[in-house]
This record gives sequence, structure tokens and C-alpha cells, in this order.
Amino acid sequence: MDIAVIGGAGYVGLITAVGLAKLGHNVIGTDINSARIEMLRKSISPIHEPGIEEALAETQSLGTLNFTTDTELAVKNSNVVFLAVGTPPRHDGSTDLNQLRTAVTSMAKALTPDTVLVIKSTLPAGTLNVIKGLLAEAGGTNKIDFVINPEFLSEGNGLNDFFFPSRIVVGTESSRGAKILREIFAPFTDGGSITTDILMSRNVPYIETDPVDAQLIKYASNAFLATRVSFINEVAAICEQVGADIGKVAEGLGYDPRIGHRYLQAGIGFGGPCLEKDLVALINFSGLEGHTPQLLKAVLDRNDEQIRVIIRKISGLLDNQIMGKRIGVLGLAFKPGTNDARSSLSLRVMTSLLEMGAHVVASDPMAIPDAKEIVTSARYEEDPEAVFKDADLILFLTAWPEYKDLDLAQLSKVMKKAPSIMDGVNLMSRKTIESAGFKYAGIGKPTG
Ligand SMILES: NC(=O)c1ccc[n+]([C@@H]2O[C@H](COP(=O)([O-])OP(=O)(O)OC[C@H]3O[C@@H](n4cnc5c(N)ncnc54)[C@H](O)[C@@H]3O)[C@@H](O)[C@H]2O)c1
Repeated sequence: MDIAVIGGAGYVGLITAVGLAKLGHNVIGTDINSARIEMLRKSISPIHEPGIEEALAETQSLGTLNFTTDTELAVKNSNVVFLAVGTPPRHDGSTDLNQLRTAVTSMAKALTPDTVLVIKSTLPAGTLNVIKGLLAEAGGTNKIDFVINPEFLSEGNGLNDFFFPSRIVVGTESSRGAKILREIFAPFTDGGSITTDILMSRNVPYIETDPVDAQLIKYASNAFLATRVSFINEVAAICEQVGADIGKVAEGLGYDPRIGHRYLQAGIGFGGPCLEKDLVALINFSGLEGHTPQLLKAVLDRNDEQIRVIIRKISGLLDNQIMGKRIGVLGLAFKPGTNDARSSLSLRVMTSLLEMGAHVVASDPMAIPDAKEIVTSARYEEDPEAVFKDADLILFLTAWPEYKDLDLAQLSKVMKKAPSIMDGVNLMSRKTIESAGFKYAGIGKPTG
């Protein structure tokens, strides 16, 4: 099939474009970010995802994947259009639809009644009508087949998630749209009857629903994961009161097959481009009809509280004097394995510390370029060891495994007197940190 992917230089768009091209479709990725499109034309990925550059090079050399900034032309030459532009939150909790508006307007005239428009972007219930209105305003047809196909990939494992999805959700009122999507996803659902050399899942649960069900599946999934994180942080606070260890508690809890271990790591809370944004959007649009989503609000409040918990712990380690102290931050990405620092809670913690008069020197294996754009008043160092120099306190905020190899005892020598470590992600044990000569605070850990 001839497929256009709008927003094709972003996380979801690029992975979708590469994945569909590997499945043998003729794909054109379009994006307004011309610098990223130029990189992609040279098979250089603007996002960090294992295997993506090899897949880019392979599909581009076969000619099945191309990139352009000309959305109208790309859509004109395609029968299926995947829309994967960003849907960031506004300050009031509503969803910013600006990227969607520009994208829909720029493709309007190129759509024909034969086009299937597949929406991958996470959009609140009711937004399909907004899209139809925009198409009509822009002088295009809105008699196309609309499909909601929410994305569940996890950054840092995106390409793998494309080929091994937990489920495929297709929400549409159009039987033609449903049929075409079944064809596109047939290799995932055929149990191996379609031959392909690609290592991929062949029996993926396939859920066909109304569009609004598909939208709610996406929002409810992220709200549920966020709930687990706030829950375990609440249990961590209780552990501190009663002298229990959250590591042991979460381990024992997670072996219950009804519960499982994932999203049960106590830490600084949930950040990143999806969990918080989608929870806020769900609270916002579910509240419009007079319903009060109390549980969801509590999940969000607990997450905000966790930032204050971290700041209080830092303050405690520094004898209640943050102003003028030098703090070394290790970890800026919202989780290990990605260069994405958008909505990373590390940056929120750093911003609070800077506002309180601390000097912040930060490092991350991948996310410095992203972080630099968002928090401009911190100093950044590529070398994690450099953040220890003259620091009063070291703060672990992303659980990059390589930080475990730091020689803490040696590094404590280049720090100020009586150095501290606040381990916001429980990367190392109290014993390891204290025996290297540091004052220690973690999350949900018993006092020594
Ligand atoms: N990142 C994730 O892990 C993830 C997971 C599941 C769902 N989602 C959802 O997928 C959507 C995309 O998220 P993302 O993280 O890939 O965003 P992103 O910011 O990485 O990518 C969006 C891309 O769209 C491009 N764009 C903006 N306006 C455009 C236009 N008018 N025409 C063409 N391109 C345009 C941007 O330049 C950017 O490259 C969001 O709705 C998000 O909630 C994201």
C-alpha cells in the first residue's frame, strides 16, 4: 500500500514509518521539521531507538521509505495516511491541537473520498469532529474513512514494540477503514500464514471498536500505569514511617500474578511525554460533563507531591540550606534508554532547586541536548564524574545503569566536606552509598 505518515520525524511517526516500510509498504514520512527530514534522508535518526538507523538504511536503500516536508504531495500519492503529530498539554489541562490543526489543514486538499485517515496521535474523545470541521473549513473532503489506532509503544523500545505489540486497537465506524487496517496488520494476526522474514509477533490480540472506545483504551491504559506509580510512591512513604524497605515490599507485591512487577518502582514519579500528559487530558475532558474524576486527580496530586518529597529530602541532607549549595544532577531523560527529556520530572526538580538558589550541574548519557533547551540556567557536563567536582550533594534522578559503575569513594574526594547523595531512583543501596562516605537519602528506605 502507499502510505503517508504525517509527523514522520517524531517518535511515533518515525517508528510507524520505518515499521510499515519494513513490512513492505511504500511509505513516505512527512514532517515540518526540515532539519530532521534532512537527517532522515541520510539515514540518521533524530531520536534514540535501538535498531532504527539500520532499519532506516535498509528500507531507504530498498526505496520503500522516503521523507519529505511536502505533506500535500505525500498525501496526494497515498491511499492511507497515518497522522502522528504531537498533542502536548496546555497549562489549563486541555490538549493543544495546534500541530493537528496545521497538519490537517495542509493535507485537506489532497484527500480524496478513497483516503483512509488513521489517527495515531492521542486525542481526547470528540476530536474527530474537530478534524472533520477543519477539513471542511480548509476546502477538503471530510467524506473519508477515519480510523483511531492508538499507539502503545514505549520509548527506547519503540521498534521492538512495533513488531511485538501487546495489542492492536482499531476504532472506526467505517467498514472500509476496518478492512484496510486488517490488511495492513494481517502479518501480526495471521499466526504465520503470511510469510515474512521479519522477527515479529504473529498472534497479536486485535480489537476492533468504536473510535471513542479506542481513544478511551489509550487514556485508561496510561492513567492505570500512572496510578501504579503514585500508588507505589505512597507505599514508599508508609515504608519510611514504619521502617520497611520499598524494594522488598514491591518485590513481594509484584509476584502476585494479578499485580506483576512493572510500574512498581518507587522514585521521583511519572514524567515523560505520555503518562502525565494523558492523565491530565483525561481528567480535563472527563470533568467537562460534570463528573469529578477524584481518583485520577489524587494520582496526579500524589505525583506533584513526590517532587516536594524529593526537595524536602535534599533540604534535610543539606541542613535546610539549599541556597548557594552546589548540586550535581545525574539523569535528565524521563527514563533510561531514551534521549527524551520532555516533561521529565528531573527537569522539574532541577528547576525548583535553581529557583531556591542552588547551583546545578547536570549530566545525562543522552538527554543533554533536550534538557539544555528546557532548563537554560543549569550547567551541563557530558562526563558524569564532572558533576561531583565541588558539589555538596549528588542527586540521582534517572536510573541509568552505568551510574552504578561510578567510583563513589573516589569521587567523594573531589566534593565539598560531608557530601550527600539523594538517590531519587533507588539506584544503589544505602550501604553502598554510606560506605563510600556519603550522607544518604533514598525513597521508601528504612533509616540506617
Ligand atoms: N512518544 C511516545 O512514547 C508516545 C507513545 C504513544 C503515543 N504517543 C502519542 O503520539 C503522538 C506523537 O507523539 P510523539 O512523542 O511522537 O511526538 P513528537 O513531538 O516526537 O513528534 C511529532 C512530530 O510531528 C511533527 N509535526 C508537527 N506539526 C506537523 C505538521 N503540521 N505537519 C507535519 N509534521 C508535523 C513535529 O515536527 C514532530 O516531529 C502524541 O499524540 C503522543 O501523545 C506518544
